[in-house]
Amino acid sequence: ERGRFEHFMLKEIFEQPESIRGTMRGRVQPATGTVLLGGLRERLDDLVRSNRLIFVGCGTSYHAALACRQLVEQLTELPVSVELSSDFLDRACPLFRSDVCVFVSQSGETADTLEALRYAKRRHALTVGVVNVVGSAIARITDCGVHLNAGCEIGVASTKSYTSQIVAIIMIALLLSADRLSKQTRRREIIDGLAALPTAIERVLMLNDKLRMLAVGVLRDAVSILVCGRGYQYATCLEAALKIKEVSYIHTEGIHAGELKHGPLALIDQEMPMIVFATRDNGYEAICNAVHQLLARGNPQRMIVVCSEGDGHFFQGLGVGTTLEVPHTADCLQGVVNIVPMQLIAYHLAVARGLNVDQPRNLAKSVTVQ
Ligand code: F6R
Repeated sequence: ERGRFEHFMLKEIFEQPESIRGTMRGRVQPATGTVLLGGLRERLDDLVRSNRLIFVGCGTSYHAALACRQLVEQLTELPVSVELSSDFLDRACPLFRSDVCVFVSQSGETADTLEALRYAKRRHALTVGVVNVVGSAIARITDCGVHLNAGCEIGVASTKSYTSQIVAIIMIALLLSADRLSKQTRRREIIDGLAALPTAIERVLMLNDKLRMLAVGVLRDAVSILVCGRGYQYATCLEAALKIKEVSYIHTEGIHAGELKHGPLALIDQEMPMIVFATRDNGYEAICNAVHQLLARGNPQRMIVVCSEGDGHFFQGLGVGTTLEVPHTADCLQGVVNIVPMQLIAYHLAVARGLNVDQPRNLAKSVTVQ
């Protein structure tokens, strides 16, 4: 039921404070600083003892794993890789019994991810599902797992699943590091951040009118849009670009800020809108340098900077045309906040261009063929 919303995509974007609460309910306990995941309990010892974590998924689910890689590495101190299901299979990636493979999928039915899971089982890796649809193939075949509990997602473009997948993977990292003394301060910061996340998202949703104006203004007739960031926001760039291209059909590219000088700067002209994630974290200085590089070569009026609350004036002072101030949170959770305005921009662009928002051309909600 779409209720008061015109499209499922918009409804699902606005549901995120609630869907994230659903993902954390009964699992994250801020009072004691603990995380409980019933679906992993029986395999917890094997998980903690593993030598390597490999996340596998397609599209948005792949981006969610990428968004968490740094945090999972930091808390578990294990090598962590993130693989596209198709490429993982193409390479017949070497796997060992001591490996843990985490399969990330909203539908739990994506053919490449399911095939990758069967491959991992043949190699005797321990398999974990991070799945939304209960009873789906990936949920049934994995050795253990965490359901997203984000509620049914109907729009073809994945929105609330992305934010819940990030929360679920972060909960897994918190659980795996529960006994590490050296990680307790960091774990506490993240658990407090998780508790405050639904309210932070409610605040970002209040930017909706401003985002609609951007979609009918500087972005609507763009031929191509560039989205730039680094660190935790690199995954946000890729996901923002995917969301915009799949529903608005405008070519959009997510670029790591560290790569700008290695080619992409040649694309910048007076026409191209540029979106930059410059929220505060330990990469802030580096991303400010990227803003300067882009301002010098492109059209400042066509630049949109997503920044932390209170930093808008600074970027406007540099000549940036539009600033979007969002609540600050723990670095590893900032992507959950920052993707929301991008989902709304994608949505309003599709509406402004008269497109079928919930059912983009050539796409299916579950990709059950390879
Ligand atoms: C993009 C999108 C797709 C899916 C991908 C994987 O908005 O929805 O990229 O994320 O097809 O689907 P699941 O998560 O069901 O395995």
